[in-house]
Amino acid sequence: MQFLSLILAFQASIVQAQLDSYDVREATIEGVHNALYGGLTSCRGIVESFIARIEAYNPTLNAIIALKSNAPTIADEKDYALAAGNGTGALFCIPVLLKDNYDTKDMNTTGGCLDLAGSQPTADAPVVSAFENAGAIILGKTNLHELALEGLSVSSLGGQTVNPYDHTRTPGGSSGGTGAAIAASFAVFGTGTDTVNSLRSPASANSLFSVRPTRGLISRTGIIPISYTQDAVGPIARNVNDLAVALTVMAGVGYDPGDNVTALIPSSSVGQDYSAALLGGCLRGMRFGLIEGFFNRTASNETTPVNDVLGDMVNALTAAGATVVPITESTYNSSAISTAFDVQKLEYRQEMDTYLARPSLHGTHPSTLDQLYSSGKFLVIPSQYSFVNTSLVSSTNNVTYAPIKLGIQNLTTALENTFKTNSLDALIYPEQANLVVKIGSASQSGRNGILAALAGFPVVTVPAGFSPNSTDAPIGVPIGMEILGMPWTEGILLNIAKMVTEVKRVRKMPSSTEAAVEAQSLQGVPIILPDIADIPKAYPVGVL
Ligand SMILES: *[C@@H]1O[C@H](CO)[C@@H](O)[C@H](O)[C@H]1NC(C)=O
Ligand SMILES: *[C@@H]1O[C@H](CO)[C@@H](O)[C@H](O)[C@H]1NC(C)=O
Ligand SMILES: *[C@@H]1O[C@H](CO)[C@@H](O)[C@H](O)[C@H]1NC(C)=O
Ligand SMILES: *[C@@H]1O[C@H](CO)[C@@H](O)[C@H](O)[C@H]1NC(C)=O
Ligand SMILES: *[C@@H]1O[C@H](CO)[C@@H](O)[C@H](O)[C@H]1NC(C)=O
Ligand SMILES: *[C@@H]1O[C@H](CO)[C@@H](O)[C@H](O)[C@H]1NC(C)=O
Ligand SMILES: *[C@@H]1O[C@H](CO)[C@@H](O)[C@H](O)[C@H]1NC(C)=O
Ligand SMILES: *[C@@H]1O[C@H](CO)[C@@H](O)[C@H](O)[C@H]1NC(C)=O
Ligand SMILES: *[C@@H]1O[C@H](CO)[C@@H](O)[C@H](O)[C@H]1NC(C)=O
Ligand SMILES: *[C@@H]1O[C@H](CO)[C@@H](O)[C@H](O)[C@H]1NC(C)=O
Repeated sequence: MQFLSLILAFQASIVQAQLDSYDVREATIEGVHNALYGGLTSCRGIVESFIARIEAYNPTLNAIIALKSNAPTIADEKDYALAAGNGTGALFCIPVLLKDNYDTKDMNTTGGCLDLAGSQPTADAPVVSAFENAGAIILGKTNLHELALEGLSVSSLGGQTVNPYDHTRTPGGSSGGTGAAIAASFAVFGTGTDTVNSLRSPASANSLFSVRPTRGLISRTGIIPISYTQDAVGPIARNVNDLAVALTVMAGVGYDPGDNVTALIPSSSVGQDYSAALLGGCLRGMRFGLIEGFFNRTASNETTPVNDVLGDMVNALTAAGATVVPITESTYNSSAISTAFDVQKLEYRQEMDTYLARPSLHGTHPSTLDQLYSSGKFLVIPSQYSFVNTSLVSSTNNVTYAPIKLGIQNLTTALENTFKTNSLDALIYPEQANLVVKIGSASQSGRNGILAALAGFPVVTVPAGFSPNSTDAPIGVPIGMEILGMPWTEGILLNIAKMVTEVKRVRKMPSSTEAAVEAQSLQGVPIILPDIADIPKAYPVGVL
């Protein structure tokens, strides 16, 4: 046995000696697989090349909370498997970054919160196991807006993540660490969660693609929760093909008794291969509803670029033969919908208490939301203060809960009627009516994620354009568009996204991270992360 492992180690060192660093900028799943299976590099080479980019650029972007120390060793195991003719799996040797609210048994799961720094899940979330079973290599965890409660991507544990396109702006959020990391090619793709906007805002702000799936499609077991009604999990990627593969793996978990909302999955969606839906084709004859109420028509440097970019997008869709129908109903007003029906604060305390009290959660951690809040090891920015404060005294037994849930049903019916009466394939609108905000802002205002979050309808977010460039934003600030469909139409939406990218190719890598980085062999070299104390924080740590 020992002899065999010596031989394997010897073979591996020969394989490695022949390696060159692999250029992973804008790397795709297909590209990595071609390089790997064509013998241009090894899995070890792929992993080292991504880690080299993290080491070069994370000190500026501050997107990573933790790296998995044995990722290079796991890559070696993949190389042995490949040499033995067993290099299979949809994500074989694909480096993935997880938002740090996904439970992992070998890395603490913190939500970016100092009070959860020692929180140790003893099992991987089912979606994390699904990635590993498909051959993926989890590279590490990304920063987020603390506990996913806002869109600024600042946390007491991880500090402020910086937008790679404009270092004076946030990367959106709450999945902003993943957004910045994937834009900078720190991994092939990453994951996020979305209670109101959080998979879509970072995609929009970093020129990326994301999918917020239909309510129930992907199990949320083992993800730090906020809301039973509104929470969703999904992938964030640099292109539609990778997004479809990642979605297929995540949705492949299927029915999960640990998250009963997955009982809603129709048999037609069970085991669906979303890559097979990317048939391309033609936008001619398709009908898109443009939600007028989701724009801010007050001219300013923050809003006019969004209005101009979406105007150009509508022109491109129309030129390609699609029909764009203006949707002007007053129902579609994000702040009004949010005020009336956002149900998070009635569900938050119960959900968090359940997550924190699980016997399978080891390490040092509070056992209730109240304990977490009163620990003081929690960054409460003004926009979150009343949310958490009210959550602590709210519950689903509150008299307001049932009427709000009825209101959500009404909204959902209104949305279905909008699709029917206008014969729509999808609704389109800017994720954010203004540019992603500057670091230090009190909130990520102007976002339109609430409609899909409440109705539970799927959305694919695509890059739509950039604002005019400036000294702070050398190639402009990214602007994203949401494509919202009827439930269980992820395949159709992904194919629309693919056709949209064909008529309007938008994504560009950030100029601040465009220089290539040569990978160093990590044999015996410890992975050293930048000291987060060096990263300027927009907010003081502690309870206000
Ligand atoms: C191939 O790899 C899979 C997954 O790692 C493993 O379960 C299986 O036993 C391997 N098969 C062979 C023939 O080594
Ligand atoms: C993870 O949690 C354990 C147990 O609470 C703690 O000892 C350890 O320092 C934590 N790891 C990190 C990297 O913070
Ligand atoms: C899930 O469980 C809750 C509480 O028991 C129940 O109200 C709800 O109807 C269930 N949902 C589904 C989709 O089964
Ligand atoms: C619309 O944009 C203007 C200019 O940026 C801003 O002052 C205003 O608050 C925005 N309105 C809304 C409803 O967000
Ligand atoms: C708006 O943009 C213009 C042109 O880039 C610039 O001159 C002006 O100072 C900006 N206004 C504000 C309020 O930032
Ligand atoms: C949207 O709703 C808000 C109240 O939440 C209201 O102040 C605003 O005027 C509405 N906007 C439009 C265009 O009706
Ligand atoms: C909520 O805020 C009020 C003051 O607005 C304060 O008295 C109360 O202690 C806060 N609740 C918690 C749990 O911190
Ligand atoms: C019901 O919820 C509201 C807002 O979430 C809160 O202000 C109120 O105190 C709650 N009432 C009870 C009886 O819990
Ligand atoms: C929902 O619709 C019903 C019937 O159309 C109506 O009576 C009720 O007031 C509506 N509720 C809300 C919260 O909009
Ligand atoms: C904007 O981009 C153009 C073309 O690359 C460049 O010539 C110009 O200097 C840039 N402007 C600023 C303010 O960076």
